[in-house]
Amino acid sequence: MKDAAADHSAETIFLADYTPPGWLVEDVSLTFRLAPDATRVLSRIRFRPNPDGTQDRFFLHGEKLTLISARIDGAPVTPDVTDEGLTCAVPDGAFTWETEVEIAPAQNFALEGLYMSNGMYCTQCEAEGFRKITYYPDRPDVMATFTVRIESDLPVMLSNGNPGASGPGWTEWHDPWPKPAYLFALVAGDLIAHPDSFTTQSGKDVALNIWVRPGDEGKCAFGMEALKKSMKWDEEVYGREYDLDIFNIVAVDDFNMGAMENKGLNVFNSSCVLASPETSTDGNFERVEAIIAHEYFHNWTGNRITCRDWFQLCLKEGLTVFRDSQFTSDMRSAPVKRISDVIALRARQFREDNGPLAHPVRPESFREINNFYTATVYEKGAEVIGMLKRLVGDEAYEKACDLYFTRHDGQACTIEDWLQVFTEATGRDLGQFKRWYSQAGTPRLTLRETWDEGTLTLHFSQRTPPTPGQTDKQPQVLPIAVGLIGPDGEEVQETTLLEMTETEQSFSFSGLGARPVASVLRGFSAPVILQRDQDNADRAFLLAHDTDPYCRWEAGRALAKQALMRMITDDAPADPAYLGALTTLLGDETLDPAFRALAMALPSEDDLAQSLADTGHVPDPQRIWDKREAMRDAMADFMPDLLAQLFDAHQVPGRYAPEAAPAAARALANSALALLSRRDGGERARVQYAEADNMTQQLAALSCLLSIGMADDALGAFYDQWQSDRLVIDKWFSLQVAFAAPDQTAATAARLAGHPDFDMKNPNRFRATFGALAASPAGFHHASGAGYRLLADWLIRLDALNPQTTARMSTAFETWKRFDADRQDMIRAELERILSRDGLSRDTSEMITRILA
Ligand code: PHE
Ligand code: ZN
Repeated sequence: MKDAAADHSAETIFLADYTPPGWLVEDVSLTFRLAPDATRVLSRIRFRPNPDGTQDRFFLHGEKLTLISARIDGAPVTPDVTDEGLTCAVPDGAFTWETEVEIAPAQNFALEGLYMSNGMYCTQCEAEGFRKITYYPDRPDVMATFTVRIESDLPVMLSNGNPGASGPGWTEWHDPWPKPAYLFALVAGDLIAHPDSFTTQSGKDVALNIWVRPGDEGKCAFGMEALKKSMKWDEEVYGREYDLDIFNIVAVDDFNMGAMENKGLNVFNSSCVLASPETSTDGNFERVEAIIAHEYFHNWTGNRITCRDWFQLCLKEGLTVFRDSQFTSDMRSAPVKRISDVIALRARQFREDNGPLAHPVRPESFREINNFYTATVYEKGAEVIGMLKRLVGDEAYEKACDLYFTRHDGQACTIEDWLQVFTEATGRDLGQFKRWYSQAGTPRLTLRETWDEGTLTLHFSQRTPPTPGQTDKQPQVLPIAVGLIGPDGEEVQETTLLEMTETEQSFSFSGLGARPVASVLRGFSAPVILQRDQDNADRAFLLAHDTDPYCRWEAGRALAKQALMRMITDDAPADPAYLGALTTLLGDETLDPAFRALAMALPSEDDLAQSLADTGHVPDPQRIWDKREAMRDAMADFMPDLLAQLFDAHQVPGRYAPEAAPAAARALANSALALLSRRDGGERARVQYAEADNMTQQLAALSCLLSIGMADDALGAFYDQWQSDRLVIDKWFSLQVAFAAPDQTAATAARLAGHPDFDMKNPNRFRATFGALAASPAGFHHASGAGYRLLADWLIRLDALNPQTTARMSTAFETWKRFDADRQDMIRAELERILSRDGLSRDTSEMITRILA
């Protein structure tokens, strides 16, 4: 197998090898003559030598381009062209470079560079897609102003910046802000605008548009409101104003990721911008709002201040995720947002950190940068910012950010630049803190408590297990927020921040009357795994009394997890103490219904599998599934009256609104419905399905019916009702896989892949089908190996068209070492089968190689 791997091996790129560009770009002017199979791209680039670089070799990136002609200062030249770019002899001093190239957007299924989606032209250039459009120094530290001319018969032609002149069949755009090529964008098509406007804090009017295909006009209003809220929020909270006359968003059906922050022209996966009550769930609405905010916030954290090189990706992504989470907390419920973020972090980032793909928030090497748009860079990157803010305090955080924006505006920066403004603003030495950027792996924080005559001492120790390429770990700075609750349920110590810097460290609280219960890691103040010997009585006590919503929720989760673990390892029955504590919590009408809905959700199958592996067991995915089902049956049996009451009391009358409060009520009612359906034969769900006037209620009811195997009629009706809505049909695909019995999961995915509406070229549809397979552990890891085989078959097929999405989805296999020898053998065989394919992409080959290592 080594040989096969070597065939696809590409050069590894190291952070340590960074050198400044030899030439800088003054400005760029591009002309696009659009045609599906033969688009001509003319470039005119003014280069000048970089005084901080060396001019030994003039190299421009370029891939899959047909070079028609090249000139320097008007005179034809003949560059040396390879698969990766070109080199050419160039004059000393400044010069003007011109080329004409031909590309075929209609044949571009990788969805990087210029491609077509439903007859519309669009681009995706991050990270290294611009080199598939024309020859260019395609690296983020080369920033230039762009002028773009688009020629086509299409009615709408867009690019970055402000609109310039236009005439029949052509339009010009000019972007006055220097930007790296990865932020370039072009869109052309038969599009309709949902227009609006925004007046900035200094009184400038900005035209806003969401551009969609005809038929989608009715799904733009919510996204537009989210955009205006984001613009206002960034002014109020970060003092950041928008800087062009126009801000355009375009919805595209075929897109590898969620959305892209191109300067003044954000391009969105249509699933992340389109929303209507009839077709979108509460979760979809919240996600649209957050992603619109995220991309908008990039205008400052990413675009005005960008990354020097791709190793610094977390500089823009971690910070922007942190900013969008602050925004969502402000718009909705902060505790609910925090708990949801913790759930997602554990599910995705802890899983990554504990497996073969673990890497630091700032990686030090890569073969394919597309493989590093990860939960670690994004979500752990955001946690690191949150810790920094907690450590320095809100005021210093604001001061440091202001310094960052003024000092680095217009620059391509590094993590060192970011930390330097904090050092200067606070006088703190952040040397140790910086380990959060370089050390991979999730720290295990162990807590032992002692009590001695009025003094409670918390003894902490930290240890980070080895990760690939990093065996020895140094202690990290851990901000640990702690509070103490007295025996009567009153808080005797309000939240205080302990700063742990050593491997072992103790903190004492004295002058206490009776022994309190410690509420530790409040607000999930550091992204660690807290290991704490706590008895269920203390957990139940915190679940009842903790004033910190995260710790309160966590106490419930710990109880649930304990109970489930004992069911799995010892065949214990569902723990009545847990069921009792949960019943009390759910019946507490003073608690936010969204919080109660979160408390009702059990730890995921994947979470349980990881915990079993951590405690020396070999997880059996089928058994985990069976025991979770048994627990849910026990919940339904234990509190039938309360569930019925919750369901009835949280029906939301009147017109659907996507706001947090009605969404919370629906979340609780639908969580209750899922349990009630196990006993009422689906009666309530059928009524809800028939009466639903919004997708949240309709889909929740359909899920209940699917989970009890009584959805045949509803599934058919749902398809008939929604067959012309792509985003809703994605849901129809994924739900069937997600709710299949484990021995039917692979067969269901295989059957759906044969459905006339299945289109492997559309990443949303592919993910709806095979992402759902990968996200169903008992089905994916079924002992037959059918799940593994099916996914491998389809990854092989997809890789030939779309390497980026294939590589991403290969992470389904990243947990393989947890499982028994039979499963490991089957998975290894599938991974080796993928790796042995001729022409396997660099993206997928890097991922599979790392997973196998
Ligand atoms: N930069 C985008 C974001 O996080 C993500 C993205 C990366 C989109 C690469 C497309 C390609 O907002
Ligand atoms: Zn981003």
